[in-house]
Amino acid sequence: MRYLTFALTKGRLALKTLNLLETAGVTCEEMKDDKESRKLIFVNEEEKLRFFLAKGPDVPIYVEYGAADIGIVGKDTIMENGRRLYEVLDLGLGACKMCICGPESAKEYLNHNQLIRVATKYPKIAKDYFYNQKNQTIELIKLNGSIELAPIVGLAEVIVDIVETGETLKDNGLKVLEEICPLSARMVVNPVSMKMENERITKLIQSLKQRISNIARNVDI
Ligand code: PRP
Repeated sequence: MRYLTFALTKGRLALKTLNLLETAGVTCEEMKDDKESRKLIFVNEEEKLRFFLAKGPDVPIYVEYGAADIGIVGKDTIMENGRRLYEVLDLGLGACKMCICGPESAKEYLNHNQLIRVATKYPKIAKDYFYNQKNQTIELIKLNGSIELAPIVGLAEVIVDIVETGETLKDNGLKVLEEICPLSARMVVNPVSMKMENERITKLIQSLKQRISNIARNVDI
């Protein structure tokens, strides 16, 4: 049996993902026990599974090239990177929304088709939404983080960003002006792996689906 390799997203999602995978019988004790380690790849020899942690935007790249068979990554990253992958499952973890945000006063800019500046870490998503859904021409400004700063210091009229609890917006006097789409962690699979390891991967998807539906119904954790 060959190794099945998982690329997981570093950060907030990692532990939640490992816990969910564990409920479906996919375990990696080595990774859970060794949180301080700088090791990059962890193995479950018995089950022939390998796991590594990567930066979110890199996960779809590893999966597209087949360096990982399976990836767990946010829907935002999938939408922004648009790679050739099968998106097979919504894990329901890390639920949040992609939104247009800004001060209340900026709401009018969204209704009158004005040329406005939009700051974001997600230029593709922002462009798709403004051009194709709203038919509004915008000037896009790509930033790399702390996007909420942009409308406060006058860099842009509005931002396109992720809103989870809404705390960052609230603490900076900003609001959700429009919701673009809901987001959460998704399982993606390399198309060749899906063919070659169909039985193992399909079994895993079914088992995770069952767990997720039990969690949603509060039957299981
Ligand atoms: C994300 C997002 C918002 C914040 C929203 O930023 O870009 O800034 O979280 O979360 P909240 O609604 O719970 O306040 P992240 O912490 O990933 O860092 P970044 O600003 O560097 O992108």
